[in-house]
Amino acid sequence: MARIAASVYTSHVPAIGVAIDQGRTAEPYWQPLFKGYEFSREWMKRSAPDVIFLVYNDHATAFSLDMIPTFAIGTAAEFAPADEGYGARPVPKVIGHPELAAHIAQSVIQDDFDLTIVNKMDVDHGLTVPLSLMCGQPPLSDFKWPCPVIPFAVNVVQYPVPSGRRCFMLGQAVRRAIESYDEPLNVHIWGTGGMSHQLQGARAGLINKAFDTDFLDRLIADPEGLSRMPHIDYVREAGSEGIELVMWFIARGAMGDVDGGAAPTVRHRFYHVPASNTAVGHLILENH
Ligand code: DHB
Ligand code: FE
Repeated sequence: MARIAASVYTSHVPAIGVAIDQGRTAEPYWQPLFKGYEFSREWMKRSAPDVIFLVYNDHATAFSLDMIPTFAIGTAAEFAPADEGYGARPVPKVIGHPELAAHIAQSVIQDDFDLTIVNKMDVDHGLTVPLSLMCGQPPLSDFKWPCPVIPFAVNVVQYPVPSGRRCFMLGQAVRRAIESYDEPLNVHIWGTGGMSHQLQGARAGLINKAFDTDFLDRLIADPEGLSRMPHIDYVREAGSEGIELVMWFIARGAMGDVDGGAAPTVRHRFYHVPASNTAVGHLILENH
């Protein structure tokens, strides 16, 4: 059977992708940020996932106001990096895992969650920046992402958005789905986006370190309690784009302790301000 080896949590700030793509990671502004991911890149090589189930949000790139799926699973064989208005990032295409994705769709929908099945989709910085941070990025000509990726897009852009609680329960259903897949795959589940940030309006640039620190503490120790936080508290405390954090509950809900197993091991924890307008948070939890 497939098993979930670990969950990974990370912000996806697009300017991080630009810094990587333009070779500016050693500049004084960026160096402390990338230092926080050095461990993660080494850990990724050791952990060597067969598949990454990557929870992210599309930023009006693949979807628009024409169509707003709350939860969308990418079942395609491959996904092209999107042109986000200034050209697609110079990163490899993302190879999917249609068989496992179809199995997860079948299992999770039968488990009472409504997913949109997406057989053709481009992927934006929400997905490619976490991959770059975790996997590094040698020249495009000789570089492939280390394994297939199942993109799982959550609507946190256009209201109404799903609750943290819904995401937490969905993560539990995703774990049941993965653990019932009849192939011995080592699977990662990643929750991306966040932490506190607001990109528009009078409070643009808002960062709340106290909120973020408490969120990381409780995501580790009391995810069920934390998942009950209402969406308006994210907006008030973490800024309008802080709502991206609900996606982290899908990854956290997939850890075995939620279903009576041992607590996950905190392998890495990192927090840094600022990256562009955003507080960057990052966790690696190993599942037991
Ligand atoms: C920024 C952060 C985001 O999450 C995003 O999607 C776009 C921009 C930023 O901090 O600039
Ligand atoms: Fe974002």
